[in-house]
Amino acid sequence: MELLATIEGLALVRALKTSFYAYPVVNAVHVLGIGALVTSVVLMDLRLLGAFGAISPHPFVRLLRRVALLGFGAAVATGMLMFAIRATDYAQMTVFLGKMMLIAVAGLNFLAVVRLERRDRTLTSPAGRLALVLSMLLWTGVVVLGRFVGFV
Ligand code: HEM
Repeated sequence: MELLATIEGLALVRALKTSFYAYPVVNAVHVLGIGALVTSVVLMDLRLLGAFGAISPHPFVRLLRRVALLGFGAAVATGMLMFAIRATDYAQMTVFLGKMMLIAVAGLNFLAVVRLERRDRTLTSPAGRLALVLSMLLWTGVVVLGRFVGFV
């Protein structure tokens, strides 16, 4: 708890809290990152599940995976900044902790997709299909929990 209070007291964090512009800008980048991440994940997973058959899957998936990773990086960096402002409160919030757990599960599911892909590039096995459907559900769940955090 002391560590969390120390984080809240850092000069950068206090500046973020008191500036009129900084927090909304950081929040906007969080939302842009989430948009890029979730849109890419859904398009990529749907393509691998057989949608948009006219588009060649591998370049499409390679591009969208990069966009998803960039979006995720932006969401994590800005999320940590917003967390730092009320670190003690967020660390005790069930909804926030649930969101963090869901991000961890979605990350593990992503690693499972990459692993399964090494064996079967088109992910047509039942395990591959399940991981793709789970991926869309998990990331959507993170967005829903993320929205709830501000209301509890
Ligand atoms: C380490 C990663 C992350 C941290 C520490 C984090 C932290 C936060 C914090 C502190 C807020 C502000 C909550 C409030 O209004 O009080 C927030 C908002 C939000 N986060 Fe995250 N976040 C992370 C990643 C993500 C990801 C990956 C997603 C979605 C895929 C996400 C979805 C959201 C949503 C939808 C909001 C509400 C935005 C708004 O309506 O203003 N977050 N996040």
